[in-house]
Amino acid sequence: MVSTVSNSKTAAKQKVFDLMLTFVKSKCLYVATRLGIFNILDNEGEQSVESLASKTDTNAERLYFILRALAHVDVLEEKPERVFAPTEVSSLLVTNKEPSAGHLAMHLIEPAQWDAWRSLPEGLKQGVVPFELANGKGVYDYCRDNEWSGDTFIKAMSFLTNSQVGGLLDAYDFSQYDTVMDVGGGQGGLISHIVKRYGCKGILFDVPYVAETAKAYIAKQGLDPDAIEIKVGDVFEEIPQGADAIVMKHFISAWNDEDALKILENCKRALPAHGRVILLQSFVPDIDEPKVEADGIMPGIFAVQINVATPGGGWRTKKQFQELFEQSGFKLEKVIKTDNSLSGMEFSKQ
Ligand SMILES: C[S@@+](CC[C@H](N)C(=O)[O-])C[C@H]1O[C@@H](n2cnc3c(N)ncnc32)[C@H](O)[C@@H]1O
Repeated sequence: MVSTVSNSKTAAKQKVFDLMLTFVKSKCLYVATRLGIFNILDNEGEQSVESLASKTDTNAERLYFILRALAHVDVLEEKPERVFAPTEVSSLLVTNKEPSAGHLAMHLIEPAQWDAWRSLPEGLKQGVVPFELANGKGVYDYCRDNEWSGDTFIKAMSFLTNSQVGGLLDAYDFSQYDTVMDVGGGQGGLISHIVKRYGCKGILFDVPYVAETAKAYIAKQGLDPDAIEIKVGDVFEEIPQGADAIVMKHFISAWNDEDALKILENCKRALPAHGRVILLQSFVPDIDEPKVEADGIMPGIFAVQINVATPGGGWRTKKQFQELFEQSGFKLEKVIKTDNSLSGMEFSKQ
């Protein structure tokens, strides 16, 4: 009995230590990714900390602490004589090839986001968005005005799309639609996949600075240049007509209920009577649902990050989304379950 109690106390203590030092792991991951350490190891193979320091113009003694810590959490492998080798984990963080988890790590842990976390206590007291408090503007405007941040954000979203879209396309048949419009569709990854697999026409709608990058991205997907029409604008002003289905992936989650209702109102105006909205999201689990998705994502944790960075309701539960859409006069037709943390809900105009 005594030893069971002390074992559980030890486990509780370990949990607290792990939680309080998790930010150190995040920071080491960020700095190593940003310095291109994983790119160098991927290109050239294992090497000493002195060699990595010289190639990244950093101090070898200080860099060693970071790389050793990353080896202790299995991101790198440390060998004798302070030599570091790449691993399966570090290969996911390479940023000089395709959009990767490295872009997502850099986006989530970049200084502007970190500053937002520093402003969290004040944001909580004032009931305002910490990112805006810290940076004087919203995250989308910040990304528009800061080239590195904007580019990293777009690639981070493309990475998420590419890694989750297969499960979605297997689970939901888009061939029932003539034209699908991706609202807030970023670089056009999702709409390219939909058009390619299901042969419908596509429209990509986003703000100008993001949509500009979409042309080149879509061209690289090997599609007929006319298969996807790119439209620019602001969802709060007007959503263009012309589609019988609107998809919104990780988009409504950035907005609070009041803003989300305005967006849904504009969706309704843009769609014909038989039109559908397909909401694509990670959904925060209800109290009796599993907290970790099949791909390891914990939506309840991620939702805090979204809530620190944007005015949004974070990633709501399915029930909360349903209530939001019903307030706008939409009716839930179907829940779409995939093999990863990206799920969906199909709504019709009533
Ligand atoms: C979180 S990202 C999601 C991108 C994409 N749907 C995905 O899942 O990869 C949100 C997108 O909404 C776009 N966006 C933000 N505000 C917008 C507005 N007012 N009108 C149109 N698009 C907007 C951003 O530029 C960005 O591409």
